[in-house]
Amino acid sequence: MPLLEVKDLSVRFTRREGAPVDAVQRVSFSLEAGRTLGIVGESGSGKSQTVMALLGLLAGNGKVSGAATYRGENLLTMNEAALNRIRGDRIGMIFQDPMTSLNPFLTIERQMTETLQLHRKMSRREARRRAIETLETVRIPDAARRINMYPHEFSGGMRQRVMIAMALLSEPEILIADEPTTALDVTVQAQIIELLRELNRERGTAIILITHDMGVVAGLCDDVMVMYAGQTVEQASAATLFAAPTHPYTIGLLNALPRLTDDDDRPLQTIPGNPPLPGEIGQGCAFAPRCTYCSDRCRESRPALTASPAAAGALRACHRPVQEIMEVQHV
Ligand SMILES: Nc1ncnc2c1ncn2[C@@H]1O[C@H](COP(=O)(O)OP(=O)(O)OP(=O)(O)O)[C@@H](O)[C@H]1O
Ligand SMILES: [Mg+2]
Repeated sequence: MPLLEVKDLSVRFTRREGAPVDAVQRVSFSLEAGRTLGIVGESGSGKSQTVMALLGLLAGNGKVSGAATYRGENLLTMNEAALNRIRGDRIGMIFQDPMTSLNPFLTIERQMTETLQLHRKMSRREARRRAIETLETVRIPDAARRINMYPHEFSGGMRQRVMIAMALLSEPEILIADEPTTALDVTVQAQIIELLRELNRERGTAIILITHDMGVVAGLCDDVMVMYAGQTVEQASAATLFAAPTHPYTIGLLNALPRLTDDDDRPLQTIPGNPPLPGEIGQGCAFAPRCTYCSDRCRESRPALTASPAAAGALRACHRPVQEIMEVQHV
């Protein structure tokens, strides 16, 4: 049985003016113990709201439906007290901007030890020792001294490490990292991803990583879910997705990836146009207006998520998956 099984998760936001926003539409995935899942897509595709919904953290105008089963219990119908025991303890979360989740007025020690004293009933001394060890795990040099510092005294990369350390204090089974590297420079990004990879390998922590960047997915994830305008458009193992992507949107994201070899001087291609605003999605495929392969059928009816020929278990939602188009072109 998977550790976490999400089935037909939808999130709808009502608005004072205008039609409701269907931010997440019938998303399903499962996360086995010790596995890593990447959720990829451009801004506004519903990545963050998917995980916020799981953890009961939606804004007041948001409503979730579907099921999210963690160890046999549905997180979406659980009472607040039960959810609180799981959230921040069995399931840790790292947000995009560490400053929003660190209290600027408290030292790192206070912020870390309070959690341990509360959840784990540790003494102050024990909690401090544990906090220092955890800071060392995430490679914060001179942790015993730095634990007395305030968040603003850390660099961006170090602050993100502190955030990861806080999420690790309780040794969660699942770590959800929402764009943990976007605000950081490339070298620091790579270090943070390496750190997550070590956690996964050495402690078996299952990870859900949210990112815009297929390169980050390639470095860490076993499985990938590609989202566009609130829907899953392609879902497969990372190996399959990189070797045989079938959705034109996935291909677009992969083409936007810098090449690793020097001798490959094809220009980087970004996908022309922008994702639709919530009110702009018609009855057809949400990606149709930006898709090179778009046909009348694509504009008229929305493709369902069905089995992809790329591999057993792979899924995609497309009337004209690229493999088929390529086969036609090769004739
Ligand atoms: N409280 C809210 N009320 C109305 N719409 C909302 C609310 N919160 C989020 N949305 C909308 O839900 C959609 C999905 O948002 P989400 O934050 O999940 O995107 P994302 O994929 O995480 O994007 P990014 O990469 O920019 O973080 C967006 O269209 C967003 O505007
Ligand atoms: Mg987001």
